Amino acid sequence: MTGIPAGDIARVGVVGCGQMGAGIAEVCARSGLDVKVAETTGEALEIGRTRLFNSLTKAAERGKVSAEELAETQARLSFTTDLGEFADRDLVIEAVVENEQVKTEIFQVLDQVVTRPDAILASNTSSIPLVKLAVATSRPDQVIGIHFFNPAPVQKLVELIPALTTSEGTLSRAQLFAEKALGKHAIRAQDRSGFVVNALLIPYLLSAIRMFESGIASREDIDNGMELGCAHPMGPLKLADLIGLDTVASVAFSMYDEYKEPLYAAPPLLQRMVDAGRLGRKSNSGFYTYG
Ligand SMILES: NC(=O)c1ccc[n+]([C@@H]2O[C@H](COP(=O)([O-])OP(=O)(O)OC[C@H]3O[C@@H](n4cnc5c(N)ncnc54)[C@H](O)[C@@H]3O)[C@@H](O)[C@H]2O)c1
Repeated sequence: MTGIPAGDIARVGVVGCGQMGAGIAEVCARSGLDVKVAETTGEALEIGRTRLFNSLTKAAERGKVSAEELAETQARLSFTTDLGEFADRDLVIEAVVENEQVKTEIFQVLDQVVTRPDAILASNTSSIPLVKLAVATSRPDQVIGIHFFNPAPVQKLVELIPALTTSEGTLSRAQLFAEKALGKHAIRAQDRSGFVVNALLIPYLLSAIRMFESGIASREDIDNGMELGCAHPMGPLKLADLIGLDTVASVAFSMYDEYKEPLYAAPPLLQRMVDAGRLGRKSNSGFYTYG
């Protein structure tokens, strides 16, 4: 990774250490930034830390990180269950569950605890309007969407989503951070549910689930169809399992709420699987089962 300092951003906070939070924290730490990660409980924090360190170890085994870089990267990471420890952060990236109320409460707390006057408060949300998170704070000009892709250490893209209230200065500092500090390719999108990538991807995933639900083809044939027929690296049902079926359902819900278009409506099977706790890879069971 690049390790070029992001102008004035040296200390990053990441809220949530699930698959995205852990990946974002890894990208930032591997780029030379000081990273503090917060989770709800000690147990969730331990699971998140293990996830992050396992991913770093794998990167070292693949030769992407030297033994020295591995030790330095680990030393740049710290973990907490207390958001009060985010006082000195230059940038905080929220990456908790795709739930507007949970995210809003976190932005209210961050607004209270982060003391640097020009700190950026960012969300990794896939679909929740950024303006709603921005107006929950006293600094709506400093709130922006910085949307990473899964797995964050591998995927090159970041979407930047300014809210109606976001200042040009916040947008350009976020762009500098994404491109120069992290070496990502940044694209900009308006604050409309789904932005660019999910606005295109989610209807496709929902169509594949509807196809499976209606019995038109087996899950393997649907996935093989897109992998072998369209050269996609992963078929849609495998990809939905990777994203997390709860996240797919929540994003579909937000997009349907925004546009009221049937193509964004979650098929009943998706909701039943979420209700059954079959969330995809993260629960070892989704359209496929995992070891
Ligand atoms: N999964 C994807 O492919 C993907 C891709 C891009 C963006 N996103 C977005 O990233 C966000 C996180 O998704 P994920 O896939 O990592 O979910 P996840 O379920 O893997 O992780 C969510 C984490 O948030 C933690 N959390 C919940 N409430 C919290 C709180 N109050 N404080 C601290 N931590 C809290 C949970 O303990 C959990 O570890 C969502 O907004 C999602 O839309 C997901």
